[in-house]
Amino acid sequence: METQKFNDLLREKTEELDRIIKEFLPVEEGLQKTVIQAMNYSVLAGGKRLRPMLMLESYRMCGGEGCEIEPFLAAIEMIHTYSLVHDDLPAMDNDEYRRGRETTWKVYGETMGILAGDGLLNLAFETALQAFGRVNQADPKAMSRVAGALEVLARKAGIYGMIGGQTVDIEAETQESPVTGEELLFIHQYKTAALIQASLTIGAILAGASPEQVQALEKCGEDLGVAFQIQDDILDVVGDSKELGKPVGSDQENHKQTYVTLHGLEQSKEDVALFSKEAVELLKNFKGEHEFLEQLIITLIHRRK
Ligand code: IPE
Ligand code: IPE
Ligand code: MG
Ligand code: MG
Ligand code: MG
Repeated sequence: METQKFNDLLREKTEELDRIIKEFLPVEEGLQKTVIQAMNYSVLAGGKRLRPMLMLESYRMCGGEGCEIEPFLAAIEMIHTYSLVHDDLPAMDNDEYRRGRETTWKVYGETMGILAGDGLLNLAFETALQAFGRVNQADPKAMSRVAGALEVLARKAGIYGMIGGQTVDIEAETQESPVTGEELLFIHQYKTAALIQASLTIGAILAGASPEQVQALEKCGEDLGVAFQIQDDILDVVGDSKELGKPVGSDQENHKQTYVTLHGLEQSKEDVALFSKEAVELLKNFKGEHEFLEQLIITLIHRRK
């Protein structure tokens, strides 16, 4: 696909996802209005919408045609956004700039930052549960596909997923011994790849893909997620804060060991390409249309934001 056509498609798809995500956001009313404002502030700041995009591409590639995917698209972005809101808190990475504006805690205060993150996490499950109402309730297979997708969402966001990775990431800042390559890979696989794996596999599960296909996408998500976090580590060193919409040098300030501190810039760049190509390789056996998805993964190798 030509670059121009790919870029047009990417923009159209991002706009469509923005529209879907917005539909599921809460109305800013009631005595608890402040926390809702803080939640909407974080989600509506934008972002690449990469996880819902991967989920929708995977769903379509595996033959999905329904609308039960939509609550899940919004839910994964809510969980991702909550992870960022908490990640930026003073107790964690202590960052004041995100998605091109001040971080949620900076605008609404630390307490509301905590509550807005909690609120987004709960809202994600309230939202995803709506998928049960969007399939034929007399069809046990359709119902169990939604249940299976919910199980993945819960697990990959939790201690066997993103939260697990964030735990090790934070502990590694102050641990006595230097972080090993294995530990760092664990951090990248859990804090970042887990939600990307969830995106790709939830799309497949909802579309009724075979267990082998779901497994291939889980591995694809692992490779892509690790590549994505290595590139994030690279951009924290050589990126442009304006373009990124978040600070550079945050890792150094927090004395974080990253892929770059461990393996150097050149090796890191090579590994982003390597992991990404492995991810693309795993898509080869899928018969459904996935040209855009492949190109998206390749484009991310050289992303600047
Ligand atoms: C940032 O994710 C956090 C990481 C896991 C590296 P993104 O780079 O996808 O952030 P947004 O959603 O575009 O803001
Ligand atoms: C974040 O990793 C992963 C999350 C689960 C939020 P980073 O701390 O490197 O993400 P950024 O650089 O702040 O976006
Ligand atoms: Mg962090
Ligand atoms: Mg951070
Ligand atoms: Mg980072």
